[in-house]
Amino acid sequence: MLIRILGSAAGGGFPQWNCNCSNCRGVRDGSLDARPRTQSSIAISSDAERWILFNAAPDLHRQIQANPPLQPRRELRDTPIAAVVLSDGQIDHTAGLLLMREHRQPLQVYATAAVHQDLTTGLPLLSVLQHYCGVEWREIALDGALLQIAALPGIEITVLAVDGKPGPYSPFRQNPRAGDNIAFLLHEVSSGRRAFYAPGLAAITPPVRAALEASHCVLVDGTFWQDDEMIRAGVSTKRAADLGHLPQCGPGGMIEMLKSLRNDTRRILVHINNTNPILVDSGPERAQLEASGIEVAFDGMEIRL
Ligand code: MLT
Ligand code: MN
Ligand code: ZN
Repeated sequence: MLIRILGSAAGGGFPQWNCNCSNCRGVRDGSLDARPRTQSSIAISSDAERWILFNAAPDLHRQIQANPPLQPRRELRDTPIAAVVLSDGQIDHTAGLLLMREHRQPLQVYATAAVHQDLTTGLPLLSVLQHYCGVEWREIALDGALLQIAALPGIEITVLAVDGKPGPYSPFRQNPRAGDNIAFLLHEVSSGRRAFYAPGLAAITPPVRAALEASHCVLVDGTFWQDDEMIRAGVSTKRAADLGHLPQCGPGGMIEMLKSLRNDTRRILVHINNTNPILVDSGPERAQLEASGIEVAFDGMEIRL
């Protein structure tokens, strides 16, 4: 199984276009030891030919430009991207769908019923796409059935409903439904290797813990270092919990969880907000992660499982 991190930042990217926080300013003017990052998306392949996008970021075109395996190479109009799988309906994970409207066939989009509903009502991206390439919606069920994707042969996917929030445009923002946020446990049957992808995770429930413990590589919500990080930075009055993200620090935080995993598990933080101090490559927070065996995803990172 091949995993490519196309975009490792949370919504807004890094630097965020309108943000003058010390991180964004520093990466913009080159004074900070940090690299820019595009918004959250990964691509997975089991044959190195066909790729499945897990989330479609607003930066998709730049990401394709930066990742040759995703570029057209066979026919006049062509793409190795065979389908898009959505973990939620938030703008950072879905706006890229509009950028695929030139697709030659209906776009295959895997999403839960909850996400499909949001993307045909409050944020009707899928309805709009019907007027361009068309959309073939493949429902992701939450009944425990394994999800299999034709262009990802040999991979069985277990889907987990996770705690999180739907987008602010959703009538269910304050009342999340099962299926608003999901995570994926991918099992490569031939090698027995497993990867877990959960870019949005508000809490570690027992099924999430079991999936993390079963995995050889985990790609998990790295949005915030601290619960009140955006308040401290002066950019928002919202806490990590208000946005449906588990912070890294503190009791019950992501670091504590990841430290408890088996030693040979690769632990990688994805979906990193631009206020997060772990973006500084030489910073003390990064050193603390390294001491705990935790990596910070960067755009273009490739993982071979
Ligand atoms: C989130 O996950 O909370 C998002 O990144 C917010 C956004 O896209 O604006
Ligand atoms: Mn997000
Ligand atoms: Zn910023």
